[in-house]
Amino acid sequence: MTARRTEDRHPVTGVSHRQNSDIAGMVFHVKRRSLLSGILSRSRAATVAAPVSRETLSPMQDSETIDQIDDTPIARAAQAAVQAIGRAGEGLPRPVATRVMVVANQKGGVGKTTTTVNLAASLAMHGLRVLVIDLDPQGNASTALGIDHHAEVPSIYEVLVEGKPLADVVQPVVEVEGLFCVPATIDLAGAEIELVSLVARESRLQRAIAAYEQPLDYILIDCPPSLGLLTVNALVAGQEVLIPIQCEYYALEGLGQLRHNVDLVRTHLNPVLHVSTILLTMYDARTRLAAQVAEEVRTHFPQEVLHTAIPRSVRISEAPSYGQTVLTYDPGSTGALSYLEAARELALRAVSAGAGGSLVGQQRDGSGQGAPGAQHGTTEDNR
Ligand SMILES: Nc1ncnc2c1ncn2[C@@H]1O[C@H](COP(=O)(O)OP(=O)(O)OP(=O)(O)O)[C@@H](O)[C@H]1O
Ligand SMILES: [Mg+2]
Repeated sequence: MTARRTEDRHPVTGVSHRQNSDIAGMVFHVKRRSLLSGILSRSRAATVAAPVSRETLSPMQDSETIDQIDDTPIARAAQAAVQAIGRAGEGLPRPVATRVMVVANQKGGVGKTTTTVNLAASLAMHGLRVLVIDLDPQGNASTALGIDHHAEVPSIYEVLVEGKPLADVVQPVVEVEGLFCVPATIDLAGAEIELVSLVARESRLQRAIAAYEQPLDYILIDCPPSLGLLTVNALVAGQEVLIPIQCEYYALEGLGQLRHNVDLVRTHLNPVLHVSTILLTMYDARTRLAAQVAEEVRTHFPQEVLHTAIPRSVRISEAPSYGQTVLTYDPGSTGALSYLEAARELALRAVSAGAGGSLVGQQRDGSGQGAPGAQHGTTEDNR
């Protein structure tokens, strides 16, 4: 596992991570509102005191200076971070059984991986236990979670092809408590072919999840941009499909094919599978095109689309190069806030759809937490 690389410099901007998210990163690790307020007031006090000794300031000058400081980018970032961490601490309903969500879209670069890791981190920051399964040979989700995935690392390949237990390859994500990852290595590129000749080739992931005994609230599976056997394995293993849609031209192209595949899997292999959630990604409010695409998607899928759209954000795209989610990289950024909001919506919808759940922090009753894969259908979001 890679240790956190706080001294890394961004490959493009050359700005060090420490410079880039000094306040926000510190804020996340401290994780407590009171301490955050302390940081804010200390930074205020330090800056106020800097030019002249405090005694020489009139009350008027003092409050004016504080107002100016409140309006600086760093103060705004810190305040947004305080808000984000505060919201994360509010708690979300714990599903009565593990929700296994397949993040899929055969179109490339639409935000599958970004959505998987950031939603997973958001849910975990709300106190839920979340497992990310990286099912893409590119290993992008593993990278974004700071998990080593060179060729020798035990990975999802061994689970699918060699029948290794999932528990042997799960790794904790150091940055976020309650978040775990099954990495993907380049070996997985050959799995599509190797799986063809294996027994129960479509349900190997489902079996591995069913045999995994650790309690989990969510499993998010990051699919490759194809509809091959790896994606089919994910569709057989999951209850819900989450489709990220990039707010660009051609957004809906290929969606028919994906839904057709979901229907086929539901008919023949996994009767509980359904598209429960659509998330609009890379939304650029400045363009009319993004608004038009969003409107079209909402018209076609009024029940499935989350109200929250993820904006196009530099912070979101920078975070993976530091092996981090945007939630840890810059918790006060709009990208982080929007993923927190999307996670909240995702969790609350299941409850309003009748799936039930208990607020995190309340006693876990133990039911339905033993064998995630065996609980299919019990937390369905029927919309
Ligand atoms: N909201 C966003 N704002 C800015 N950049 C984003 C956003 N979401 C994703 N990106 C960037 O877009 C690119 C594609 O995103 P991502 O890798 O998540 O897509 P994907 O669907 O998983 O791709 P693939 O099909 O190759 O697996 C990445 O460089 C990512 O950093
Ligand atoms: Mg990806």
